Amino acid sequence: MIFIKNNIASTRPIRSYVKREGRLTKSQLHGLNNYWIKYGLEYNSKIINFEKIFKSHGPIILDIGVGAGESTINHAKLHPENNYLAVEVHRPGIGQLLNKIESAALKNIKIIQYDVMDILNKQIPNRSLSQVFIFFPDPWPKKRHHKRRLVSQKLIKLLKEKLVTHGRLHIATDWKDYAEYIIELASNDSGLINLAGENNFSPRPLWRTETRYECRGKKLEHKVWDFCYGLK
Ligand SMILES: C[S@@+](CC[C@H](N)C(=O)[O-])C[C@H]1O[C@@H](n2cnc3c(N)ncnc32)[C@H](O)[C@@H]1O
Repeated sequence: MIFIKNNIASTRPIRSYVKREGRLTKSQLHGLNNYWIKYGLEYNSKIINFEKIFKSHGPIILDIGVGAGESTINHAKLHPENNYLAVEVHRPGIGQLLNKIESAALKNIKIIQYDVMDILNKQIPNRSLSQVFIFFPDPWPKKRHHKRRLVSQKLIKLLKEKLVTHGRLHIATDWKDYAEYIIELASNDSGLINLAGENNFSPRPLWRTETRYECRGKKLEHKVWDFCYGLK
């Protein structure tokens, strides 16, 4: 794919995150050094064999942009019958999640550190995901940055290929403008059904953990919008 910037052709895709890494804490480093080997998957361009990596046939949940994984860990504890693929690009959050998986002795979470667009394109088998979570994606509120938003036509197209027939896509955001944009994107897209009814928001799922991003939004007096989509 070719991108034109200042009349210079570039092959670099626009990313939905900025690679900035502060110092890792001792605890994050401990997690990365000791437990990545147990729960991490190296990105490559091969299709993942979920049964092989989880040693079970459980439904697969893709949690995109997990941060420190507070929500992933709670869901995985409540549902040992499911298997969770947690995707995140930043190591500090991954270090924290690794520590949590180890202390809860969970066998149903694996982590990949890479851009989810590449993972979906290369590694996720079609019709393999029972649910996809996108909770509090970075809002990119400035108009000139909207093209960086994770939820996009391209992402939706890929997810439609990857979800199983009765699969669900759950999204939450505390940015009004992003919420309106998601509704518009999904309603223009004939392949998805809004399970709350067209142009409606869903009630907050009781099982969704309140993470620090949600708390931060609430402190800013933001409302929170939830969405649940199925395949047509
Ligand atoms: C605001 S945080 C939300 C974390 C978590 N979902 C929660 O609700 O607390 C969004 C996360 O998405 C990650 N992210 C953004 N774009 C991504 C991408 N293309 N692939 C993987 N992770 C991404 C960011 O690194 C960031 O940690």
